[in-house]
Amino acid sequence: MSPSQENTDALTPEEAAVELAKLAEAIAHHDRLYHQQDAPEISDADYDALRRRNDAIEAQFPDLVRDDSPSKSVGATPSSGFAKVAHARPMLSLSNAFDENDVAEFLARIRRFLGLEESDLVEFVAEPKIDGLSASLRYENGGFRVGATRGDGTTGEDITANLRTIDDIPETLPGDAPDIFEVRGEVYMSRDDFFTLNERQTAEGNKVFANPRNAAAGSLRQLDSTITKSRPLRFFAYSTGETSATPTDTHWELLSRLDDWGFTVNPLSRLCASSDDAIALYDEIAAARASLPYDIDGIVYKVNRIDWQNRLGMVSRAPRWAIAHKFAAEQAETLLHAISIQVGRTGALTPVAELEPITVGGVVVSRATLHNADEIERKDVRAGDTVIVQRAGDVIPQVVRVIPEKRPSDSKPFDFPSQCPDCGSAVMQEDGEVVRRCTGGLICPAQALERLKHFVSRDAFDIEGFGGKHIESFRTDGLIETPADIFRLHDRADEVSAREGWGEQSTDNLMAAIEARRTIPLERFIYALGVRQVGQSTARLLAKNYGSHEALASAMADAHDPESEAYAGLIAIDGIGPSVAADLAAFFAEDHNRTVLADLAAELDIEPFVQEESDSPIAGRTVVFTGTLEQMTRGEAKARAEALGAKVSGSVSKKTDFVVAGPGAGSKAKKAAELEVTILSEEEWLDMLGEESVS
Ligand code: IVH
Repeated sequence: MSPSQENTDALTPEEAAVELAKLAEAIAHHDRLYHQQDAPEISDADYDALRRRNDAIEAQFPDLVRDDSPSKSVGATPSSGFAKVAHARPMLSLSNAFDENDVAEFLARIRRFLGLEESDLVEFVAEPKIDGLSASLRYENGGFRVGATRGDGTTGEDITANLRTIDDIPETLPGDAPDIFEVRGEVYMSRDDFFTLNERQTAEGNKVFANPRNAAAGSLRQLDSTITKSRPLRFFAYSTGETSATPTDTHWELLSRLDDWGFTVNPLSRLCASSDDAIALYDEIAAARASLPYDIDGIVYKVNRIDWQNRLGMVSRAPRWAIAHKFAAEQAETLLHAISIQVGRTGALTPVAELEPITVGGVVVSRATLHNADEIERKDVRAGDTVIVQRAGDVIPQVVRVIPEKRPSDSKPFDFPSQCPDCGSAVMQEDGEVVRRCTGGLICPAQALERLKHFVSRDAFDIEGFGGKHIESFRTDGLIETPADIFRLHDRADEVSAREGWGEQSTDNLMAAIEARRTIPLERFIYALGVRQVGQSTARLLAKNYGSHEALASAMADAHDPESEAYAGLIAIDGIGPSVAADLAAFFAEDHNRTVLADLAAELDIEPFVQEESDSPIAGRTVVFTGTLEQMTRGEAKARAEALGAKVSGSVSKKTDFVVAGPGAGSKAKKAAELEVTILSEEEWLDMLGEESVS
């Protein structure tokens, strides 16, 4: 059952508050991925489900609606790089209807709100909902002045130069257009153009886009508008923002006026005398959807009379006079040849369905994710099965179900591998986790790059002048494979100085920076190994408890046996639970890792842990950091506090001694005030530690 279908009646107010907090965070996260990074992780359908769940809980517990509720915002805040533009009128989002009942309710609400008689007709304009990005174009005295993205609906990004490169956007308007006239519409890329662009990207070794929408977003948000110009973007106009005069009485006439003035309006739009007419158009376009030259994800119904639109106004983030009637995900039937396993950069093993290529919603699909072993078991997916696949409006296709009647008689259930297909290391699954992971962290080729980057990162070996980019190119060229190779680079100094961008001086500097880290404190060494769930504070706990690298390695190897004393000793450490212990034991039990570790240790001088005597005012006190810190990262603040003997916690309780609150601090600062816990600014905190703050 999807979360949105679960009943909200059964929730207690406490549970509802917790869930709303989680939903706000999750939706903000997905908004950022979608709007700022053009890299969504979940399907539109799953995203909609999160928002629906949020709305349902808020409807039942109106007192619990949060200040940062997703229902109060549209999309994400603008990312940096472009100037900000305040929208003269907010750029709204649309409420969704998922079936005809929702549409009927929408109509009933409108009738109630306007107090219409049974006999009064409500005309609608029905338009395809284009799967692109909205943009607002401001014309002043007939000239295109400013163009902006939606951003968070109130403030967008100034992308005027990029919008000027789009042929569908006129540079000037005729004399009968109002002096101030904002046009809103959707920037999109056609499917054919998207495929051609991806071919070009592949040929040039550049990033390939997951779908036309991401390609349009990526192309529009270029800081260099010559790049945008080389991308085939288009624009459909569908509404207005601020206007100094209302040019028409109806939306239908507005579309025709926009067309007269040189904009492109969607040719499938239609004036509908009733909601039945609108739904008939919905069915017609749904049937033709796969053969359209661009992606659409529903039909938008808009009340035709503009005076009625004005009376209806908006609720939180959407107009009352319009609704998006969404399409179900597009599906197709095909043969599943095999199930292969992909190893991700973090070692997660993802099963992938290798399919007979099939067109789903205009896109050829030959692979689909099966998510994890539980999912395969639940759906009982097997090689040789005929399956239904779906593209939920976007990104990665999914296997929906198997058609059992078409299963070959000799088919066998899928056997999830117990060894990593890339490196042969053991695969483990933690209690309560669905994901299975490769334990060959240090040697697995799929994970090697990320591990090496982590190894040299700031809180780990922190080798000056040697960042992720260098690691990547040195590794590609075979100069380093495992961490120990970094400390043997001096043998290959000639090869380094012969590289592009490197000379003798910079090579000498690098060698000196590497030498400077050959001696390393034990806690940094442990952290650098990149064992799952072992962050800086766990690394420190381990260093403190085991004292030396040798003692740690031997205890961890023994801890593989959960009956052992070593295991009991490990989980007896305050702050280390069974899940972290399992990851540690698995890492040290893996032969490959032990070999790489011994090789590395032989190159290094690992300093045993030294307990710092602390007479600092925060020794033994509990601190919570919240909001944005301006002088240091959270990680740094936490490490410094711990170094001075404080305990850093993630949540505020009566036991908290100090809350350090930066800008944007929310519920934690509020709770601290309620509990009368001392709240400090970042400066006050640094003063207390006797450190100078940078102003
Ligand atoms: S009308 C107040 N019409 O859908 C009116 N939006 O989920 C708001 N969209 O942000 C928009 N096609 O990016 C409208 N024909 C259409 C549309 C459309 C696509 C997008 C637009 C909007 C989003 C809302």
